[in-house]
Order: sequence, then C-alpha cells, then structure tokens
Amino acid sequence: ARLYSEGVRQLNTVGEEDLAHFAKILPESCILSTLPPKPTATNDELAPYNTDWMGKYVGQASTVLKPKTTQQVSEIVKWCWERRIGIVPQGGNTGLVGGGVPLKDELLLNLGGMNKVRSFDPVSGVLVADAGCILEALSEHIAPHHHIMPLDLGAKGSCMIGGNVATNAGGLRLLRYGSLHGTVLGLEVVLPDGTILNQLSTLRKDNTGYDLKQLFIGSEGTLGIITGVSILTAAEPQATNNIILALPSFDNVQPLYTKVKRHLSEIMSAFEYFDRASYDLAIKHGHGKALSAEDVEGAECFVLVETSGGKREHDEQKLDELLETLMEAEEPLINTGVLSSSPAQFASLWAIREGITESISKEGKPYKYDLSVPIHAFKDVVDITREHLRSKGLLREDAVKQVMGFGHIGDGNLHLNIVADRFTPEIQAALEPFIYELVASYKGSVSAEHGVGVMKAHALHYSKDATSRALMKRIKDLFDERGIMNPGKVLE
Ligand code: FAD
Ligand code: MLT
Ligand code: ZN
Repeated sequence: ARLYSEGVRQLNTVGEEDLAHFAKILPESCILSTLPPKPTATNDELAPYNTDWMGKYVGQASTVLKPKTTQQVSEIVKWCWERRIGIVPQGGNTGLVGGGVPLKDELLLNLGGMNKVRSFDPVSGVLVADAGCILEALSEHIAPHHHIMPLDLGAKGSCMIGGNVATNAGGLRLLRYGSLHGTVLGLEVVLPDGTILNQLSTLRKDNTGYDLKQLFIGSEGTLGIITGVSILTAAEPQATNNIILALPSFDNVQPLYTKVKRHLSEIMSAFEYFDRASYDLAIKHGHGKALSAEDVEGAECFVLVETSGGKREHDEQKLDELLETLMEAEEPLINTGVLSSSPAQFASLWAIREGITESISKEGKPYKYDLSVPIHAFKDVVDITREHLRSKGLLREDAVKQVMGFGHIGDGNLHLNIVADRFTPEIQAALEPFIYELVASYKGSVSAEHGVGVMKAHALHYSKDATSRALMKRIKDLFDERGIMNPGKVLE
C-alpha cells in the first residue's frame, strides 16, 4: 500500500493485503475494487462513487466497500486505523461541498447497504433506522402511522439519513420542526479506532452529562461513521396547503414575511424565496407547471408559503383572508398569489421550488454558495456578485439567468448560485474570496446548511474565529489522532 501525506499526517492507500482482509469481513458482492490481481469492478463502475453530485469534485478511490451491519463497519474501520488508511464515509452522495468523495484514493465506505428500519413507535413518534436508509423511504415507512419526517429536502429520493445527520441538513421544514440538533435523539457511531459508540437513545430528555451525539451532527464524517439514527418524527398535519406569491420588488419580501407570519401564525410551516431567474430556470427545465403569463408578469421574485394545520376549513379560510388582505391593500406587497386547489397543484408548486437545484445543474456547471446573511441583504448579495462578474468580463450574454438567489428566507439562508459553461480557474478566482469577504462584512456564515466539506475548509476562518478553530482541531485529534476519517475535509 502506497504512502501519501494528508496535512501533517502520513496515510496509506488500500493494497492487496487490505483487500484480502476485507474479503474476510464482507461478502464478495459488497466489495468493488479495481485493484489487481483480481479486480471486481471497472473504473467506470466506481465513477459514480468517486464523482460528486455537481460533477465538480472527482476522487480516485480504487475500492468501495458496502457493509450491511454495524459490526462489519467496526471491523473495517479497526483495520484501517491500524493500517492508517484514510476512509471517506458516503451516503447518497448528494452533498454539495465535495465532502462525500475522496480527495485522493482513500477507501470509500458507502452506507447504502445499511438500509433497515430498526423500530418505530407510533405513540412517541421515535424512529430508529440504519444510517443508509433513504430519507424518502423513511417518510413512506412512517406515513401509514400518520407521522412525517422532521426534515425534507429536494434530494429526498437519494440522500440518506446518516448523510443528513452528518451534514446537519436543514431543508424545507426547518422553520417548523427545527434543526437536527433538536430532533435527533440518539446516534450509533463507529469511532475512528473501530469502537462502537452506542448512544442510540430514544429518550427525549437525558441530562446525564455532555451530549456527545451533538458533536457528530454536522461533523461531515470527520469524527466517525454514523451507523444508526434515532429521530423524533412529527405527527402528520391534518391539512396542508401552499401558495406562491409573486412580488413586484424584492423590497417587499421582509414586510411580507412579517405580515404572513403574523396572519398565519401557528399554521405557517414554510416560507421559501426564489428570484425570477430561479423561477424561469425551474420552469424551463420542466420542474412544476408554469404559472400563467399574467401571474408572473412584472414579478421580480416569488415566495412559496406552506401551511400545515389541524383543520382544513380553518386553514383555507386563513389563506383566503391573507390573499384578500394582501391584494386589497392600498400599496399591495404582491402582484398576485396562486393558491393550490388540489394535491396535484400543491405538489406542482413545491416542484418549482424544489426543482431549482436540478434545473441549475441542467443549465450548466453550478458554483454554489450557501450563505447565512440578513434577509434584507439577499438581493444585494446576488446583485453585487453579478456586477462583480460583469466587471471581470465573466458574464454570459444571458447574464440575468446566470446569477441567481433562492433559499430559506425564514432561516436567513440564501443560496447564491452562479451557472457557468464550465468550471474554470478564472471564475473561481473571481468568486473567492470575494463572496466570503462579502458574507463576513454582514457577519454571516459561509455555510448555512450544506457544510464545509472540501470546498470551504480554507474559508472556515470567515465564520469561525481562531479560538473556535483551535478547539475544533483538538476535538478532531481527540477522536481521530491518526487523521484517517475523511481526511482533508472541514479542517485543513
Ligand atoms: P453524502 O453526500 O453522501 O455525504 C455528505 C457528507 O456526510 C460527507 O462529508 C460524507 O463523508 C458524510 N457522511 C455521509 N454519510 C455519513 C455517515 N453515515 N457517517 C458519517 N459521515 C457521513 N442540504 C440542505 O441542508 N438543505 C437542503 O434543502 C438541501 N437540498 C438539496 C437538494 C438537492 C437537489 C441536492 C442534490 C442536495 C441538497 N442538499 C441540501 C445537500 C445535502 O447536504 C444533502 O442532500 C444531504 O444531507 C446529504 O446526504 P447524503 O446521504 O447524500 O450524504
Ligand atoms: C435547496 O434549498 O434547494 C438546497 O439547499 C439545494 C441548493 O442549494 O442548491
Ligand atoms: Zn437549502
């Protein structure tokens, strides 16, 4: 096995002897390797594991292992600890910061084979599942028991609950159900030396000392491998509705948010924002049904509001009244509103918002900045970035469609996206550190919900001071003094 250095540490890559050992732990079908003398996979077969969702980060893992049990994960990791082999944990590979693919040829440990629900208690709503369960499959599992997952995101059909926890994914329901730091009740984690940490508690209250599981939520595979998750699910709302409001000006977003929050009160469950460019792209690429030409005329941006409540008539009445009040105001904040009137239309309105990410990737290569900034700055950040690119001569002719903003207004989370024909060093140099400095000037965060991964490891200092970064390094060393767990991610 070849030696290479990652930061100050020396790590080994997988060799013949290692493969022979893995073959004692896993059945042949769970090992994909291009290594001689007996390759079990081709480079093409490994490509989907080595390449991230955006096609931006490409690793060179020669070996992918797909364990089915926690015990197998533990034995693999123990071996890698002893042999100092770098490991990249991977779930659905939908991460957007390059955290789930190797930098070099680390061992890729994919959790997709661990996909069993361990238990669900319909009374407490506590679900315990293997880390490799797909988020949507978990939603389907609990739906007959009238419960819903406390998180939802556009990647639900591929992302896995372990990946969600490892990235502390936010998504479309955070406004209502809070972050995973609140809803995750327990974790089972294989530590870097192979020890199994069993904190798979189903208790809602447990103040017996340090809450260790919190460290793994958002640790992006750098402290251990999450193999099991215990999570509090929510009672399914009796009624859900949604409405898209078209705004003539971004300036109206903040007063609208205040008004809608006050009017809808406890039934508001999402308040999502997208600018005109995001809307146009989603429609162009077939995500959701276009609103009528009349409805979108003169709209600079849109918000999607969702309600989840206990009584359909009550919620509908509130939404009707809201729309009436907004439309009849002396100086209306909105041009128009499109209220869903059927489950199909409800899904179609959501499809527009949820489809933005995919439509951007269909349009070109995406540069993604996932920022926390004050709500009033959302449009400025997008406009300043567009002007900056223009001043560098880097905008395409269809410039309006090239730089866009959307995101979770209610959480102060802006997704600033730039679409390019190709990923190029010129565009990269124009965008960074420009955007990070802009965010720092607002005292914002360079990563609101996607994490740090490899993309932002060098930019951590814009949002975390030296004391915090030094403590993070000490925590990393405490768990993983050999540096085998997702090397080069989060911390440089
Ligand atoms: P992966 O991409 O496989 O891995 C992500 C990171 O977690 C990597 O660092 C990896 O090493 C680590 N990891 C994965 N599994 C484990 C494990 N079991 N143990 C330890 N570490 C592990 N994010 C949001 O926050 N909100 C959104 O609204 C949102 N929407 C998205 C929409 C689309 C269309 C896409 C493509 C992505 C979106 N994301 C969103 C990004 C988000 O990070 C992921 O979708 C999701 O949380 C990652 O899960 P995954 O299973 O795909 O993880
Ligand atoms: C979203 O909110 O749609 C996601 O976080 C994905 C993205 O930023 O593209
Ligand atoms: Zn998001």
